[in-house]
Amino acid sequence: MSLWSDFLNNRDRIIHKWPHYFPIYEKHFGPWVNRSLVFYEIGVYKGGSLQMWKKYFGPGVKIVGIDIKEKCKKYEEEQITVRIGDQSDHKFLAQLVDEFGPPDLVLDDGSHQMHHITSTFEFLYPLVSKNGVYMVEDLHTAYWEEFGGGLRKQGSFMELCKDLVDKLNVEHTRGILKEDSFSQSTLSMHFYNSIVAFEKGSPLGLKPQKHGGGLMGI
Ligand SMILES: C[S@@+](CC[C@H](N)C(=O)[O-])C[C@H]1O[C@@H](n2cnc3c(N)ncnc32)[C@H](O)[C@@H]1O
Repeated sequence: MSLWSDFLNNRDRIIHKWPHYFPIYEKHFGPWVNRSLVFYEIGVYKGGSLQMWKKYFGPGVKIVGIDIKEKCKKYEEEQITVRIGDQSDHKFLAQLVDEFGPPDLVLDDGSHQMHHITSTFEFLYPLVSKNGVYMVEDLHTAYWEEFGGGLRKQGSFMELCKDLVDKLNVEHTRGILKEDSFSQSTLSMHFYNSIVAFEKGSPLGLKPQKHGGGLMGI
């Protein structure tokens, strides 16, 4: 069964997702189904999405739900642990990594406040495993001032992402930008309506090659 039909047929705990997210989840998370992995979801709410991920990824997934509300603790079950804390608190996040290991996949569906999203990303992104995925959803809030956003507003997570696009192309900036851990560990960034996904991987070896009479990869 697909994630989408699981969502539609869900009669269990409430899940809070936009329909157009489902093909995006399938595209970036699909390769992890039935593997052994650590999945962090920031934002537990009523616990339904944690159960949906458990069903989707299968018996090898260890799910860590993160929420600021104490009552979310009750959504723990086999394969699902919930920890209570503020997603922007690096000490709290460090404890999670100590306890559960670095995440393979992170889905930020927490407060949607720009300073929280950025703080979580700054701490967790470098720790995501080598070929892991970091996804932030509900980024329409990056355009809304009540979430610290606004069109082209400094400090919005979308503006940070625009700068990161340049880092992804660091070797073409003729020395203006320097390689850093982001440029060395990020394979791609994907922009959708309200979602940005980062795929980690080694971008080394991106050099044009000559084949036959023509120059490839100009
Ligand atoms: C949109 S809901 C999560 C929905 C859930 N992932 C789902 O798909 O059903 C957002 C959750 O983020 C939590 N939250 C708000 N601020 C937070 C913060 N600073 N740190 C961690 N969680 C926070 C809220 O308590 C709420 O449960």
